[in-house]
Amino acid sequence: MVSRIIPVEPFDLVIFGGTGDLARRKILPGLFRRYCDGQVLPGARIIGAARSEHDDTEYRQFAADAIREFGGGRACEDGTLEAFLENLSYVTTDARGTQGWDELASRISNDGRIKAFYFSVGPGLFGDLAERLHSYGMADADCRIVVEKPFGRDLASARTLNATLAAHFNESQIYRIDHYLGKETVQNLMAVRFGNMLFEPLWNSQYVDHIQITVAETVGVGGRGEYYDKSGAMRDMVQNHLMQLLCLIAMEPPAKFDPDAVRDEKLKVIRALDPVEPHHIVRGQYDAHAGQEDAHPSYRDAVENPRSSTESFVALKAHISNWRWAGAPFYLRTGKRLAARSSEITVVFKDTPHNIFGADAGRHRNVLSIRLQPNEGITLGVTIKEPGPGGMRLVDVPLDMSFAEALAPDGEDPPDAYERLIMDVIRGNQTLFMRGDEVEAAWAWTDPIIAGWEARKEFPKPYESGSSGPTDADLLMQRDGRKWRGVSP
Ligand code: BG6
Repeated sequence: MVSRIIPVEPFDLVIFGGTGDLARRKILPGLFRRYCDGQVLPGARIIGAARSEHDDTEYRQFAADAIREFGGGRACEDGTLEAFLENLSYVTTDARGTQGWDELASRISNDGRIKAFYFSVGPGLFGDLAERLHSYGMADADCRIVVEKPFGRDLASARTLNATLAAHFNESQIYRIDHYLGKETVQNLMAVRFGNMLFEPLWNSQYVDHIQITVAETVGVGGRGEYYDKSGAMRDMVQNHLMQLLCLIAMEPPAKFDPDAVRDEKLKVIRALDPVEPHHIVRGQYDAHAGQEDAHPSYRDAVENPRSSTESFVALKAHISNWRWAGAPFYLRTGKRLAARSSEITVVFKDTPHNIFGADAGRHRNVLSIRLQPNEGITLGVTIKEPGPGGMRLVDVPLDMSFAEALAPDGEDPPDAYERLIMDVIRGNQTLFMRGDEVEAAWAWTDPIIAGWEARKEFPKPYESGSSGPTDADLLMQRDGRKWRGVSP
């Protein structure tokens, strides 16, 4: 299926942190792919800004290398890459000083085109950047700033960041990225729920027994040990990505698909979350992969902190206290160095009210599973009769749909999350970005959990690399007579 590409008018985009890892892996390759597809038009001005000294030619070479490595195999040899690089330039810029700012201001147009400033830097620089964009006359009422997670490390720091940005920009100009919201299948959650009559009438605790959200990764903390050890899975994944998935699966239908209508409903979900009981949460930390200690060291070796009490795994049971969900728990689980890279949301429906087939037929439940990655798609487990004579024996079979097979049989990859989100910034659509109050509400729910661990001086449970996490996570489910879905690719 050929996707409909709507080009965006040429824009100015300044990437602060333009030589950083995110620019190299995601932002520049993403912009190139949008250029190849005709969405970013020639004439766009993309300006890298960072402390290191480079000229335009060197920056273009940096971008070309990044695109060859991370561009997803897009044709770089037919002149398209060279044409794209023409749109790039670089200004050595000191976020805390004066160097580069006059030059940046002179390169930015005043011809009414959209201007966006990507703060791909640590949050400690947000205030300096915001203030200088104003004092050097680059920030007009229509410009946008893009900020990355982590948006704070607790409620107090998130509030401070929000206040810092609010001193210079309106909320409608601030685009807080959670890249999970840019994933094709995550948006499909809304399409599945609100574009079909089939599911919504059953989407409540009267029909749903429970919901599971799993984001399992095979990677460890790799080269990010220093950041990760101060953060842990709760701050790195649960407070943002899993929380966003929870909101999309649990929220009420918004009156329309518009940024504030959607975000108002998400916010109500976060505010309706009960505090998590300490015995409803399990933290884990991975051990080395047995026999592969050099290639896959333990978490503590990876972060070079032999006494680290940071978690690389979290499983928890959450309750949403509202009419729709009272009585149907949400089980959330995420971890690194698990058996497979597999993210899915599973809605487990209740038993039928009366089993007309008798006790021998066993227990059969409908299970709707939405796979986010890899192999995006939806499977609905349906109960049917086992074929053959000999009475009514029941069996569960999957109604299985792979989005790739159904929508892109020619193997065309959908745009990466960052491509979509950057284009949304230029188009001025905030639906897939977190609002300040949403981020604060998510921290308000997360903070007491982390404070509880710290007060109890709790250490995470060890789990084997390549497993599905600590056994306590299984017990969390077993105590409720339930079971996690297997972590498999
Ligand atoms: C990031 C986290 O936000 O998301 C990483 O900081 C994590 O720790 C990553 O690995 C997962 O993203 P994805 O798109 O690979 O599922």
